[in-house]
Amino acid sequence: MEKQALLFLYSSVLIPIFITCAAVDTITVGQVIRDGDSTLVSADETYELGFFSPGSSRNRFLGIWFKNISPQTVVWVANTEAPLTNASGELRVSHGGLQLFNGNNTVIWSTNSSGSVSLVARLLNTGNLVLSDQGILIWQSFDHPGDTLLPGMRIGVDLVTGKGRHLTSWKSEDDPSAGPYVLWVAPDGYPQLFDTQNLDSKSRFGPWNGATFKGMPDFGGNSIQFVFNDTGRYFGYNLVNSPQASRMRLKPDGDIEYLNWINLTQSWNAFSTATNDNCASYSICGPYGVCNIDNTPACSCLDGFEPRNAEEWRRADWSSGCQRIEPLACGNENGYGDSFLILLV
Ligand SMILES: *[C@@H]1O[C@H](CO)[C@@H](O)[C@H](O)[C@H]1NC(C)=O
Ligand SMILES: *[C@@H]1O[C@H](CO)[C@@H](O)[C@H](O)[C@H]1NC(C)=O
Ligand SMILES: *[C@@H]1O[C@H](CO)[C@@H](O)[C@H](O)[C@H]1NC(C)=O
Ligand SMILES: *[C@@H]1O[C@H](CO)[C@@H](O)[C@H](O)[C@H]1NC(C)=O
Ligand SMILES: *[C@@H]1O[C@H](CO)[C@@H](O)[C@H](O)[C@H]1NC(C)=O
Repeated sequence: MEKQALLFLYSSVLIPIFITCAAVDTITVGQVIRDGDSTLVSADETYELGFFSPGSSRNRFLGIWFKNISPQTVVWVANTEAPLTNASGELRVSHGGLQLFNGNNTVIWSTNSSGSVSLVARLLNTGNLVLSDQGILIWQSFDHPGDTLLPGMRIGVDLVTGKGRHLTSWKSEDDPSAGPYVLWVAPDGYPQLFDTQNLDSKSRFGPWNGATFKGMPDFGGNSIQFVFNDTGRYFGYNLVNSPQASRMRLKPDGDIEYLNWINLTQSWNAFSTATNDNCASYSICGPYGVCNIDNTPACSCLDGFEPRNAEEWRRADWSSGCQRIEPLACGNENGYGDSFLILLV
């Protein structure tokens, strides 16, 4: 109630200034970006922020995409859960931060931040939308990832505040609202990444061997970064080969794609898809099973184990896993005692 009253007071005092010149990367207090009229463009013209409709949807969303790439490739969406039903949306910066209004002067999405009349939002060359107040960072889109990880972004968990950042799939190519898949970094145990549908693991990437995750897409020589210390666990990547554009996306079907833009062919090159590696599918070989993509079939049993269900195993259904050929003989004093074998994976 109080907030609404303030807002009303505020908007009745300020006369909005509509941005009509397209080539600006900032929006300040009192300025407006209106659907169909204007966009923000990063200084190097890589990214653009404005209104769009995904796939065959007629709903409108505020998002960020690559400016010079066609078809339009969206990397971030603001109002994922609150679609605009017509092209009357407006983005404004006010004391209340960045606010998205529908045609009825109702705030449908907001950064929930507040600041002074010096608040300014800027679309950086990295694709990060940053809201700052006299040089102090208030909010940034990189802290609120959608389905796409861009170079320089990080997902993970801050072990001090308990706050997590993860990728969430779109419901479909036509609907950017939260789908069932989430890519997250395990907060405890071995450094691992999980791609999960609700709470069931679809794929697991890890453990981290210092350079990459087992089962992870090949990042085409770009450097993967994994921070694993007392204050947090983070995963991200940086460009080394410096292609035109690059992105990693958790698709609506839960698959992970890592793509580079190839200027010569004007197309995205799917450098790799995580599920190309059968062994990335969580628990595919069942208990006591071992997965090796170089083998056909990929699953086998640990030494001393045999398939629990030979018939299923022949049908390439390895889910029931393996069992001991000989029962454990702990405490056996006949010299045939059990021992440990080294498993190289
Ligand atoms: C527009 O706003 C008015 C008053 O805030 C409200 O009564 C009305 O239902 C709204 N209409 C729509 C289509 O949201
Ligand atoms: C756009 O949608 C809003 C919210 O539903 C509504 O209040 C407004 O009248 C619509 N504008 C047009 C031009 O249809
Ligand atoms: C702002 O706050 C509302 C209500 O608490 C919440 O639903 C919404 O997700 C928040 N927006 C952002 C961008 O965090
Ligand atoms: C953990 O890593 C982050 C990111 O590199 C760093 O800012 C932080 O200081 C590190 N914490 C500790 C305890 O080393
Ligand atoms: C990309 O290709 C276009 C023509 O298709 C060309 O004009 C442009 O200079 C190229 N950009 C780079 C960075 O190579």
